[in-house]
Amino acid sequence: MWGRANMAAVILLLGWVCVFARGEASNAEMSLADVEAEAILEKATTWLWSQRDKDAGWGNDTHRVLLALRLGNLTRDDNIPPAPVLELQLSAKQMELEIVLLLWRHREVGFSPVRLARYTLALNALCMDPRQFHGHDLIGTLQHHEPPTDYEFAVATLAACSAQAHVRKRQIRRLLDIANAAQDHNVDTVAMVILALRCIVQDHRHRNLHHFVRKPSIGLAHQQRLDGSFGDLHTTALAMQALEEVENEPANNWNRSAALAWLSSRQRQDGSFDGDVRTTAEAVLGVAPRGLATIRALDCGQGLTDSSPPRLTTSNDITAPENHSEVLIALTSGSNTSALITEPAGTSTPVLVNVTYTLWVGSNVNETYSLTLTAPKNETFYGVMVMAAEMSTHFEFAASEWPNGHYVHTLAGYKEEPLSYHYWLLYRLPSPPEPASPPGNQLVAPGGVDDLQISEGEHYLFWYKKL
Ligand SMILES: *[C@@H]1O[C@H](CO)[C@@H](O)[C@H](O)[C@H]1NC(C)=O
Ligand SMILES: *[C@@H]1O[C@H](CO)[C@@H](O)[C@H](O)[C@H]1NC(C)=O
Ligand SMILES: *[C@@H]1O[C@H](CO)[C@@H](O)[C@H](O)[C@H]1NC(C)=O
Ligand SMILES: *[C@@H]1O[C@H](CO)[C@@H](O)[C@H](O)[C@H]1NC(C)=O
Ligand SMILES: *[C@@H]1O[C@H](CO)[C@@H](O)[C@H](O)[C@H]1NC(C)=O
Ligand SMILES: *[C@@H]1O[C@H](CO)[C@@H](O)[C@H](O)[C@H]1NC(C)=O
Ligand SMILES: *[C@@H]1O[C@H](CO)[C@@H](O)[C@H](O)[C@H]1NC(C)=O
Ligand SMILES: *[C@@H]1O[C@H](CO)[C@@H](O)[C@H](O)[C@H]1NC(C)=O
Repeated sequence: MWGRANMAAVILLLGWVCVFARGEASNAEMSLADVEAEAILEKATTWLWSQRDKDAGWGNDTHRVLLALRLGNLTRDDNIPPAPVLELQLSAKQMELEIVLLLWRHREVGFSPVRLARYTLALNALCMDPRQFHGHDLIGTLQHHEPPTDYEFAVATLAACSAQAHVRKRQIRRLLDIANAAQDHNVDTVAMVILALRCIVQDHRHRNLHHFVRKPSIGLAHQQRLDGSFGDLHTTALAMQALEEVENEPANNWNRSAALAWLSSRQRQDGSFDGDVRTTAEAVLGVAPRGLATIRALDCGQGLTDSSPPRLTTSNDITAPENHSEVLIALTSGSNTSALITEPAGTSTPVLVNVTYTLWVGSNVNETYSLTLTAPKNETFYGVMVMAAEMSTHFEFAASEWPNGHYVHTLAGYKEEPLSYHYWLLYRLPSPPEPASPPGNQLVAPGGVDDLQISEGEHYLFWYKKL
């Protein structure tokens, strides 16, 4: 029903349904609702495109609009999505710039976990891995911050789950606590918690939680008002997504047609809702065949776009660790500024390459350490770090282990401090780093420490700096 090519046929059919079978078969009513949703969607997305600015963005709502346009253009069963159209990719580039700015200018704009979460949801929907955002693990950063409100907490957890990151038991417990006391929370919070839980139960390890979603969903369904809405536009669109996902359950407890009719009555002639970009993008998500809870199920495959990351971990990856364990490499040996490691001769002699590995501490680079290492070509940078830790105490590090690799948070005795925005950033440089001309963002390493394979003449820099 959702394929656009079929629309003409559906609309023709609709005529017949109206004339001959009005209100009879429930199947006919299904198509009526879908046709209504499609009509709202079509007009709203056309309006959103018309509002795009010269920078290919939508002001401070670029991420919301990208998410809405992307999800609005996928079918319900389309788990292997096509690459985003070029125009969407162009706007995605604009969003990437915004994210880099957010990471760098947080002091002026203020760091907001929920904003970061929304960015990562959009990245995921566009098949870009937020855990490898130009070498930065945005989900790791997100998981370091405990959002203050229950609503924001649910958004952040939904974002982590959508990125197929590990959601901790403690986080799931907090969601379930909210769901079980739904009467004490507003409709937005309950709907967002349901969306997060619906994402989590897609993980084979949490299938058993399915029935915990049922009760709050039915409770939410009962919040529908006589006019078909669940409150304002924002709340209604959110509730529709939360209920939409329910597999053949509360379908009987709420009236989707009535909600759609209400939305349709609120849509302006030009296709917008209140003439507002954000509200319109939210409404699109409410009527789109796929809502926020389905982002995790998208299987982006390989080589979708030139900017797309390596394949995301699939949800049935049974080898993913159940917990988030700490690896501490703490081998004490003499520290030195230059050393050489020779690999034991293997069965075939490996090609050896030289790389330098430097640590800078502080935005003003008040401490530096440097090593030159010889290692087999294609060794991972993580392997180099382990060697360096054996050579010098300054290079000892601590990392947390995630399904997608190591996240290094401590080096040279300095631990990342998300609260004061101190992070270790990894750069890969064509020449040795010079504090007098520090590297720019474009030189941030293009992957995590486990993904980077070393080659001759590369210079790695880990820089502890305030973002
Ligand atoms: C987003 O932009 C709109 C219009 O430019 C402005 O009214 C609004 O305050 C901005 N919101 C935030 C969170 O910056
Ligand atoms: C929507 O998707 C179809 C193919 O699935 C594509 O041809 C079309 O250009 C897309 N439109 C937008 C606006 O993304
Ligand atoms: C749902 O709402 C529509 C529109 O308000 C109404 O025509 C229909 O009878 C309702 N369906 C049920 C099952 O209540
Ligand atoms: C946590 O992970 C570590 C390392 O993978 C493993 O040894 C340990 O048994 C795990 N603990 C639990 C409770 O799963
Ligand atoms: C570096 O190693 C050399 C030779 O092993 C040694 O003589 C020197 O003292 C070391 N330097 C430091 C700073 O430990
Ligand atoms: C690496 O550096 C050492 C010492 O400077 C040198 O002897 C060796 O030839 C270099 N290896 C490569 C592959 O350039
Ligand atoms: C260097 O800067 C870091 C971070 O600003 C600070 O914690 C550290 O104490 C400084 N070290 C020295 C030797 O000044
Ligand atoms: C390193 O990797 C590249 C590409 O993955 C491959 O072509 C090359 O043969 C590898 N080199 C060694 C020494 O394994």
